Amino acid sequence: MTLVLRELHPGFAHAVLDLDLSAPLPDGTVAALREAMDAYGVLVFRDQHLDDEGQIAFAQHFGPPERYVLSYRPGIKLRLGRAEMVDVSNLDATTGQPQDRGARHRMVNLGNRLWHTDSSFKQVRGALSMLYAHAVPPSGGETEFGDGRAGYDRLPEAVKQQIAGLKAQHSLMHSRAILGFTDFTPEEHAALPPAVHPLVSVNPRTGRKSVYVASHASHVLDMPVAEGRLLIGELIEAATHPDLVYWHAWRVGDLVVWDNRCTLHRGMPFDESYPRDLRRVTTSDVGGLALVE
Ligand code: OGA
Ligand code: MN
Repeated sequence: MTLVLRELHPGFAHAVLDLDLSAPLPDGTVAALREAMDAYGVLVFRDQHLDDEGQIAFAQHFGPPERYVLSYRPGIKLRLGRAEMVDVSNLDATTGQPQDRGARHRMVNLGNRLWHTDSSFKQVRGALSMLYAHAVPPSGGETEFGDGRAGYDRLPEAVKQQIAGLKAQHSLMHSRAILGFTDFTPEEHAALPPAVHPLVSVNPRTGRKSVYVASHASHVLDMPVAEGRLLIGELIEAATHPDLVYWHAWRVGDLVVWDNRCTLHRGMPFDESYPRDLRRVTTSDVGGLALVE
């Protein structure tokens, strides 16, 4: 199976052409896609026709989908019926209309405007995220992707040596606290304890290293907090240098897949009186090599 690819950003994001993800995948497609993910970190599939079931089924080829982390708050009404679907939209679960400015779902999702990696705050971190567009605003609301591998490659040798073996603590609550949002119950804190991960990720298939930090990273272990935060900031900056960033302008029917273990991303602002309905499925990094063909 040979994929038809088009480069969107040098050495980084590529579009996959001529593949209908709602139809049964030709033999070898999953293996070819995995290879392309290893090579490019971000893949874009345009003009797709996926419902929630189809999106989840596609994700399952690559590993077990995570379950939505904010569904543990008792009584919370979710707009989407499946725990595997993360609602990245600006829509109210009851009315289906753009939500109020102060809505809790909006407050939590505003954290997506900071450079981050999905689910780095979990013990078993997020692997591939797959975000699909059902409705997009007329302008704005793009998603930016930074290349953690190219960011790592560019680090001064002394910094590479400094960060080898270092670990950071990640927590969802930390990235939300950066924006001043701290409305989490003790139960929510208990359900999402911080996780510790190395500052550097390695893809065992390609040997390529990547910085693995994000807004969820609160501090570096065995280092004064302030010093660790400066280091985290420096690594995020390296991976998101403007010439390493792929900027995705959404169209309805786009599916964008990224590897959270070697990329960072953030959402851009838009006029929130327009619906923006994006839905995400993220696979768990089980064993680091999950693949089900
Ligand atoms: C996400 C995310 C950014 C955006 O779905 O994980 O961070 O542009 N989205 O909505
Ligand atoms: Mn995200």
